[in-house]
Amino acid sequence: MRSSSGSSRKLSGKKSFVVAIDGPAASGKSTVAYLLARKLGFTYMDTGAMYRALTWKALNTGIDLDDEKSLSQMAENIRIDISSRESYPGIDVYVDDKEVSSLIRTPQINRWVSIVSRVPGVRKAMVKLQRNIARNKSVVAEGRDIGTVVFPQADVKIFLVASLEERAKRRWKELQEKGISCKIEEIREELHLRDKIDSEREIAPLRKAPDALLVDNTDLDITQTLEKLLGIVKSRIMI
Ligand code: DC
Repeated sequence: MRSSSGSSRKLSGKKSFVVAIDGPAASGKSTVAYLLARKLGFTYMDTGAMYRALTWKALNTGIDLDDEKSLSQMAENIRIDISSRESYPGIDVYVDDKEVSSLIRTPQINRWVSIVSRVPGVRKAMVKLQRNIARNKSVVAEGRDIGTVVFPQADVKIFLVASLEERAKRRWKELQEKGISCKIEEIREELHLRDKIDSEREIAPLRKAPDALLVDNTDLDITQTLEKLLGIVKSRIMI
């Protein structure tokens, strides 16, 4: 991977930095991006939470999810506020002043979020919002199209992957810890379907940017993944 200038940059003065992390569902992006942002003193940006928030609102207002015009209008007018917490899961999410942090992580949202995220008008509005949030700030942003579309000039781009089996196992364990019982086969199926929709959509599909570094963390735990990413970032940005 090369940074967009092809060399390390110095973290000083007014320059703000962007670390872009993309990858499939449950590859550990959110946790590692949150921890990396804290280590670097950068703002953590969970773009999936924005698409989830919009999907929550669409389902709760009864909009027909096939109605692209209404979804796009909703995306242009929605107020999503995200604030950081001291520990992981690192954000509180509000939609029009209602706190929805856990409501956007349900199986129902998992099921529909990729469908809503395919809509061109939705993506346009969300990308605008994401660029505004990052204006004049250093960020660690994670999602599906960060290195390819949202911040193509990002200073560091990472494409984080893990095997489907391992990702299903991790998600299953997370749910068990929250007291939610489910079958690992169902999780595997849901992740597989979401990855398929996310990577086959016409606009901004999940794809590794040519200048992104591929990191496979199938055999790494979160601490090892964080160390690896921190090493990459430090070699690109002289901190
Ligand atoms: O990262 P996540 O699982 O919370 O993301 C939920 C969904 O949001 C994901 O399946 C597709 C969509 N998404 C997207 O289309 N583009 C992004 N940059 C981030 C998420």
